[in-house]
Amino acid sequence: MDKHSRIYLAGHRGLVGGAILRRLQQLGHTQILTRTHRELDLCSQVQVEQFFEQERPAYVILAAARVGGILANSTYPAQFLYDNLMIAANVIQASYRYGVTKLLNLGSSCIYPKLAPQPLKEEYLLTGPLEPTNRAYAVAKIAAIELCDHYRAQYGCDFISAMPTNLYGPGDNFDLQTSHVLPALLRKVLEAKQTGATTVTVWGSGNPRREFLYVDDLAAACLFLLEHFSGPGPVNVGTGEDLRIRELALTIQEVVGYKGSLVFDSTKPDGTPRKLLDVSRLQQSGWQAEIGLKEGIGRTLAWYLASAEVPGC
Ligand SMILES: NC(=O)c1ccc[n+]([C@@H]2O[C@H](COP(=O)([O-])OP(=O)(O)OC[C@H]3O[C@@H](n4cnc5c(N)ncnc54)[C@H](OP(=O)(O)O)[C@@H]3O)[C@@H](O)[C@H]2O)c1
Repeated sequence: MDKHSRIYLAGHRGLVGGAILRRLQQLGHTQILTRTHRELDLCSQVQVEQFFEQERPAYVILAAARVGGILANSTYPAQFLYDNLMIAANVIQASYRYGVTKLLNLGSSCIYPKLAPQPLKEEYLLTGPLEPTNRAYAVAKIAAIELCDHYRAQYGCDFISAMPTNLYGPGDNFDLQTSHVLPALLRKVLEAKQTGATTVTVWGSGNPRREFLYVDDLAAACLFLLEHFSGPGPVNVGTGEDLRIRELALTIQEVVGYKGSLVFDSTKPDGTPRKLLDVSRLQQSGWQAEIGLKEGIGRTLAWYLASAEVPGC
């Protein structure tokens, strides 16, 4: 990608889009096109067409989506399905019509069947039933991959799809009602330190294994794929390593410098025992994650303390 190429980054204020924006700016890209949801509703075909006709991006990074946790996904499945189908169909069709050189579509590991073997390989896509709680979201994300692949097959478009593992980092959601496990634990441990609480309760047994990728590493992987990868199907993006929630909690405790104890509440559900992506396809292309968990948690903590004006440790 030339430093002066016109790059449309959809979803630039989100966790993923924000990290990609930082990376593009660090690399010195001068023509990054952004619009907020309010300025450009990607569910509107008319608005998307007008935007592409006016702006003529050469590259498109699709990091906009209606995203949410289990509660939001299971309460509003029609909205999750409709919005994500519309966003993908409108942006991919306009990218084809206006001759975009390359498009990167972002999905999620929830596209894989609920009971697929671990680690999850790209070829497990569409081999079994999905997790029911986020099926609507997953179906829309699978449709987006299919759109990229069929536009490639029928029209020769260079549209690719990246499937990140669990992400964390600056811009993450720290609301305890809706946040993912890592920011939720980070906040709880930090607050325990600040208030002098002697224990922190962690939901579940602490035994499930999960993989975490620092979002700036994902941004680097996305730009690497745009430069160096072309082909159909999803490409998993992760570290290739997982750890127990117990180990994650202990790492957070160490980074925060909390001296109290962690209590694991086994009466709370554990969820699936393991979720790890097979990242051999990405690694064989020549990319590997660089930011270790401890460093990533430290950077996330620093961002949280600064952005939320949280009193320091
Ligand atoms: N977070 C994770 O752990 C994770 C893991 C794997 C994959 N992913 C994938 O990465 C992508 C982005 O996720 P994220 O976590 O960055 O989400 P996010 O923080 O919620 O950001 C989503 C972005 O999409 C924009 N958006 C939503 N609906 C829109 C619409 N109708 N029109 C225009 N813009 C719209 C929002 O714009 P405004 O800011 O203007 O409202 C926001 O910037 C998703 O495809 C998701 O599946 C995320």
